[in-house]
Amino acid sequence: MTALTLSTAAAPGLRADAIVVGVAKGTAPKSGDLVVAPGAEAVDKGYDGRLAAVLETLGASGAEGEVTKLPAPAGFKTPLVVAVGLGAVPDKDSSFDTEALRKAAGVAARNLNGSKKAVFALPLADAAAVRAVAEGALLGAYSFDTYKDNGKDAKAKNGKAPLAEVALLGAKPRDKAHKAAVEHATTVAVELNRARDLINTPPNDLTPEAFAAIAQTAAKEHGIKVQVLDDKALAKGGYGGILGVGGGSAATPRLVKLSYTHSKAKKHLAYVGKGITYDSGGISLKPAGHNETMKCDMSGAAAVFAAVVAAARLGLEVNVTGWLALAENMPSGSAVRPGDVLRMFSGKTVEVLNTDAEGRLVLADALWAASAEKPDAIVDVATLTGAMVLALGSRTFGIMSNDDAFRSAVHEAAEEVGEPAWPMPLPEHLRKGMDSPTADIANMGERMGGGLVAGLFLREFVGEGITWAHLDIAGPAFNEGGPFGYTPKGGTGSAVRTLVRLAELTASGDLG
Ligand code: BES
Ligand code: MN
Ligand code: ZN
Repeated sequence: MTALTLSTAAAPGLRADAIVVGVAKGTAPKSGDLVVAPGAEAVDKGYDGRLAAVLETLGASGAEGEVTKLPAPAGFKTPLVVAVGLGAVPDKDSSFDTEALRKAAGVAARNLNGSKKAVFALPLADAAAVRAVAEGALLGAYSFDTYKDNGKDAKAKNGKAPLAEVALLGAKPRDKAHKAAVEHATTVAVELNRARDLINTPPNDLTPEAFAAIAQTAAKEHGIKVQVLDDKALAKGGYGGILGVGGGSAATPRLVKLSYTHSKAKKHLAYVGKGITYDSGGISLKPAGHNETMKCDMSGAAAVFAAVVAAARLGLEVNVTGWLALAENMPSGSAVRPGDVLRMFSGKTVEVLNTDAEGRLVLADALWAASAEKPDAIVDVATLTGAMVLALGSRTFGIMSNDDAFRSAVHEAAEEVGEPAWPMPLPEHLRKGMDSPTADIANMGERMGGGLVAGLFLREFVGEGITWAHLDIAGPAFNEGGPFGYTPKGGTGSAVRTLVRLAELTASGDLG
């Protein structure tokens, strides 16, 4: 991954491929005036204080996502200046919004892929800004090229290797808070990028067994206790949901339990992730056009895995248990059929009406397993329904919960880290649509409000009295469009930062 350094040098003497500066939309004296953001004073001086005017001539507006490249001033040892838009100039008493900084740093890093070193001269008013810029740069510089050119020469792969080094100008190497901010950003970005790698890895390679092995290795490396139930252990334990879904595949299912504990922990969080390594739909087969990206159906498990490892590496004073419900949903002679009844780990029976509603079946078993430990709260993460994508679009995840205050807290945590999310209800009247003449419940209900129906199904498998939230990340988990901000094409790592934030808030006693 990209290396981050803190630099105190003066801009003109720096040797790099590019200097990144921020440009914002001003409000005074006249609206629309360009403002060069703090941090770029030395660069502006190189242009005799005319950088804003030069950028204006080049058509810059300061809008978020905008990139303007121009030759560096005479006398500079770096040939290129890259101006990135930061949106509106903040009010007098406040500094730039952290998400605007994160996005701008991501855009800059992405546009500099193929270069060796860039100096970021962005506004770093405080440690929060340092952390945002560091995160944006490390997340924006991501590229997945394991499968290009037989993995030989990094440069030949996608044409451009990710930006190798970023020096943050103005961040103070001796300032404890700045150093901690860079360390935090690096830890989270490394783990989040690893989640992206897992999501992008094709399903012929990332089987449930392979995913479990990767989790085992990482857990050992970071002092996390790990337990893997294979198909035999799942059968012995009565995990009918996971076994039912995984039964059609030659690649057998797994349930992975990752336990991170801290001796000073006062609270215990359980994270549960949907880990369908490929969702063909099963016997209720998805049509062509709906299955090409279904390697992303383990994004919830990838997020949970990344968050638990990040919590361990950050040494958070909270116990976090991660549950990865791993299975491949395939049609075959041994696959679960529409009409089958499964006996779940909780003892409840489920009539499977549609084998493509498989996520809720694997999650049901994992939620029940998580509930047995009586954690203070459970959060599950899943690419659960197309209905949630229809409702909220491809960048926002839905939050459902059995506790209004907890749902708000999760929403706030998501907002804080720059992950778009929105609260969704669990309307009681939708429950009866899942009544089954044969079993305790069916895995399908009314089509309208399908995301909420799925949430109501999951709620049935949460232990009595346990606070629970469900994040449906079907929209934001996988970016089918072009890259934006610090988000690449393909696996995004959605929900990782929200889960890490929730663990931090729980550790500090600011949540529940
Ligand atoms: N994995 C899909 C949901 C999905 C859709 C994820 C689009 C990412 C992008 C899930 O298993 C599924 O197939 N859900 C069905 C449920 C239905 C059969 C009740 C759906 O949403 O159509
Ligand atoms: Mn499905
Ligand atoms: Zn699925």
